Amino acid sequence: MEKGLLYRGKSKSVYAEDDDYTCILEYRDSTTAGNGAKKAELDGKGALNAEISSVLYQYLEQNGIETHFIKKLDDTRILAKKVDIINVEVIVRNIAAGSFSKKYGVPEGRPLKNTVVEFSLKSDQLGDPMMNESQVTALGIASQEELEVLKKTALRINTLLSSLFDECGMVLVDFKLEFGIYDGRLILADEISPDSCRFWDKATGRKLDKDRFRQDLGDVIGAYREVLRRLRNAQQL
Ligand code: TMP
Repeated sequence: MEKGLLYRGKSKSVYAEDDDYTCILEYRDSTTAGNGAKKAELDGKGALNAEISSVLYQYLEQNGIETHFIKKLDDTRILAKKVDIINVEVIVRNIAAGSFSKKYGVPEGRPLKNTVVEFSLKSDQLGDPMMNESQVTALGIASQEELEVLKKTALRINTLLSSLFDECGMVLVDFKLEFGIYDGRLILADEISPDSCRFWDKATGRKLDKDRFRQDLGDVIGAYREVLRRLRNAQQL
């Protein structure tokens, strides 16, 4: 195993630092879909996601959300607080799309009467199955109190990001968050990028996220670059 490598995910690697409180996250060009069934290397994706996620985490920090982000080290690497990851993914949905549309037979693009918050087990082996709250607490993955914090924080992040993306001419359709424990506090970890969100252009409906890869729509990197360009022009940042 590579020196210092703590974990190699599908699109990021985590490296140890000399202390117990920080780690280095490296964003790679690798991309996968369908739980690893489809794979590609997309030149420049790592750098784009490292920058987009850093910009968004700094925006969230400025608005009172604690994240693991400390600083950018270079094009593809960030220094982060070393957290104990909570083993559930938190998915927030504003508009029907993806697995929600498929599972419930709802056309993609249908607005939802309320924001949906879902939990799913972080397990590639099991295909990240959706879990209800009593299943999460029964397995000791998080307590009910922690779930309340996760939901409240996820909804606050949704409000902040929806406003920012609206200013950038994009609709925030849905996104996935991961949290971890740091010094006894629940903080936002992992990334927020076009790999972990759905964004549609407000005027044309053009997809500007990883669905371009999942659905073979082409110009994946062009779309990610466009997301970063619009964020750089945003007044709120
Ligand atoms: P889904 O519609 O496939 O359930 O995805 C919902 C959102 O979560 C979408 O923005 C993509 C994101 N997501 C991830 O980032 N990683 C995952 O493993 C999954 C299943 C979804």
